[in-house]
Amino acid sequence: MSEKPHHLAIIMDGNGRWAEARGLPRMMGHRAGVEALKSTLRLCSDWGIAALTAYAFSTENWSRPGDEVNFLMTLFERVLQKELRTLEEEQVCIRFLGDLDALPLKLQELISEATERTAANAGIHFNVCTNYGSRQELVQATRALALQVQRGELDPEAIDERALAAQLHTAGQPDPDLLIRTSGEQRLSNFLLWQLAYAELHVTDVLWPDFDAAALTNALVDFQGRQRRFGGVQEEI
Ligand code: FPP
Repeated sequence: MSEKPHHLAIIMDGNGRWAEARGLPRMMGHRAGVEALKSTLRLCSDWGIAALTAYAFSTENWSRPGDEVNFLMTLFERVLQKELRTLEEEQVCIRFLGDLDALPLKLQELISEATERTAANAGIHFNVCTNYGSRQELVQATRALALQVQRGELDPEAIDERALAAQLHTAGQPDPDLLIRTSGEQRLSNFLLWQLAYAELHVTDVLWPDFDAAALTNALVDFQGRQRRFGGVQEEI
C-alpha cells in the first residue's frame, strides 16, 4: 500500500520541554513551534495532503499561567498578521475551529479576515483548533440538534451519525486518517474525539519544535505500513 493520508491531524506537544532543555523561557518553545508548524504546513501542501488540522490551544489551556496565555494569544495575532499574505499566495484555505467568541477581540477580527480572504483558495485546508475542546463541541452539537427537535424541525428518528457530524466544527470535512502526537505522550487530550474514531495513531518522542521533514516522513511511512480495516477484516489480495 502506498497511500498517503488525506487529512493529517497533529497534537503539537513539547514546546515547553524543548525550551527548558535549552535553558530558555517556555515562550521561546512556542515561538519555535510556530516555525515547525509553518514548515509542516508547507511540506503537507507540497506532498499533496489535502488537509492539516493542528491543535493550537485547547479549552483546558486557559488554566496555564496568565503570562503564557497572553503570550500565546499575542503570538497567534502576530503570526496571522505576518503570514496572511503568504497563506493567500500559497492557496491555503485556513479555518479556526473552536469557541472563538472567548478569544481576544483583536484575534477574533484577524481570524475573520484570514478565514474570509482564504475561503476560496483551492490548496490545502488548514484547520487551526483554537480554544477547542472535543467534549464541548459534542455538547454544543447535541444541544443544536435538541433545539431543532424542540422547534419541530427535526424528527428524533432522523438523528444519525451524519446529522451529528454536520453540527461539529469540522462539518463538511472528511475525518483525519492519521493523528500525530509529538513528545511521546499517548493521550488524545480532548482532541477530535468523534472525528478520530478510525484514525491511525503515530506517537513520536520528537518535541514539536524539532518536528521536521524526516519526522513527518517517518509518520507517513508508519501510516503506509498500517492495514486500515475500519472494523472489518482484511481483504484477500
Ligand atoms: C504544547 O506544548 C503547545 C501548545 C499548547 C501551543 C501550540 C501552539 C503553537 C505551536 C503555535 C501555533 C501558532 C499558530 C499561529 C497556529 P506545551 O507547552 O504543552 O509543551 P510541554 O508539554 O513541553 O510543556
